[in-house]
Amino acid sequence: MVNIGFDLLRVLRITNRKFLCFLRKFYCFDLPLHPLSQAFGFQFSSVPLCALSGENWVLIFSVSPWWVLGFGCGSATLCFRGGFWLWLWHLWFNRQDTGFMNLPLTSPEINTPAFLVDRAIVQQNCETMRNKAQRSQVVFRPHVKTHKTIEVARMQVGDSSGPITVSTLAEAEFFAQHGFDDITYAVPISPAKFDRAAALARQINRFNLLLDNDATFQALQDFQAAQGTVLDVFLKVDSGYHRAGVDPDSPESVRLAVDLATSPAVRFRGLLTHAGHSYNSKNPEEIRKVASQEKESLTRLLARIPQLGAANLLRSIGSTPTASVVEEFADTDEVRPGNYVFYDVFQARIGACTLSQCAVSVLATVIGNYPHHGHLLVDAGALALSKDPGPDHMERECGFGVVCDLNLKCLPMKLIGLSQEHGKIQAAPSVLQHYPVGTRLRIMPNHSCLTAAMYDSYQVVEEGCVTGQWKPARGW
Ligand SMILES: Cc1ncc(COP(=O)(O)O)c(C=O)c1O
Repeated sequence: MVNIGFDLLRVLRITNRKFLCFLRKFYCFDLPLHPLSQAFGFQFSSVPLCALSGENWVLIFSVSPWWVLGFGCGSATLCFRGGFWLWLWHLWFNRQDTGFMNLPLTSPEINTPAFLVDRAIVQQNCETMRNKAQRSQVVFRPHVKTHKTIEVARMQVGDSSGPITVSTLAEAEFFAQHGFDDITYAVPISPAKFDRAAALARQINRFNLLLDNDATFQALQDFQAAQGTVLDVFLKVDSGYHRAGVDPDSPESVRLAVDLATSPAVRFRGLLTHAGHSYNSKNPEEIRKVASQEKESLTRLLARIPQLGAANLLRSIGSTPTASVVEEFADTDEVRPGNYVFYDVFQARIGACTLSQCAVSVLATVIGNYPHHGHLLVDAGALALSKDPGPDHMERECGFGVVCDLNLKCLPMKLIGLSQEHGKIQAAPSVLQHYPVGTRLRIMPNHSCLTAAMYDSYQVVEEGCVTGQWKPARGW
């Protein structure tokens, strides 16, 4: 009974926050005042009690006035009253992440600059992408590097334990600690990190690594000979981005794939590519062309190594622009987009999403107003936004983000300069006069991954108010 209660709480907390809030009111105020609650006392109170301790001893400290009046059934009643007080304490203690905050964006309690994340938009973005993967019957292994939080990762995978993709070992360790047990570290592994990777691989169900060269493969074989740990490996393929990966059309790539497949030192899992060059596109049509290159590069290389038994090797693709514009994922086994959870100004400009799908913004305060120079100053500089130039392949000097009011209405302003803690916003004097010192603005970032990485804590926004915080993994 006790454990069922605990699980129920966890499920409700993750899946339906509004229902949980309603339920909390119900626990705290309605049931204790109602004699009929005695009949159900044990069942209902087991949830908050178990949330606190998971043990039965809390029962001992409980007192019930209803018992004196002759209602109820002994220990069930005792359990309920104790739960009531402990539950109130629990709500107070956890008030920040349980949603009992409700701060308007003008509240002085929110220090600026602040990174705001709209929970409903993130949820929607996550569901749309996960449903597409499900419809296409491919493995969905979303990247978590954009947000690095447990809360969003659970929304991405639908409350399960993975699979996920990470970009640092620190992320991999953080997510493993929180129950994710099928992780791909999607940056080519450095031999200096084998020890740490192997320690993690021993803890979880599966930990995949990437490599694209003989030197790393040789080091991995030496490591296996010395340590005995056989690691799971993908061969990274260059589908046109030219950042990393083997050339899918070169005989050397076939040779390395065969070596990996036949080596007892590794478990060869398949081919993996990331179409980063989709970010050079100017519209969905161009992105679709890159999407075709992305999947074809892997299918082509796989076809050249039939001796490996293609059925056992996975083809893993993924970038947010390509994953967003295709109707479904074809000729692939696994997809790994990441930025789509937040999207950003860049993605909107190239046609991977609309600005209304962008879930994040930086809350900033006007700290200077200079009509004679035609600009405002805000307290969000490069360390609050990152200095990503945005889609400058489409528009030179497009600004460092989109400046909006508190309701995310775009304003006739341009963020033209960033220094460490200053943001310089250009506008006509007739506009500037409406934004005196102290006014708060929201700036949609050019590149949400980099902006998010500037913060130790995100402010979760629901229906225009900050209702909690999420804390991302940090470091490498
Ligand atoms: C290997 C790999 N896979 C997947 C992704 C996710 O792509 P995006 O950020 O476009 O969602 C990235 C991003 O850099 C990556 O490097």
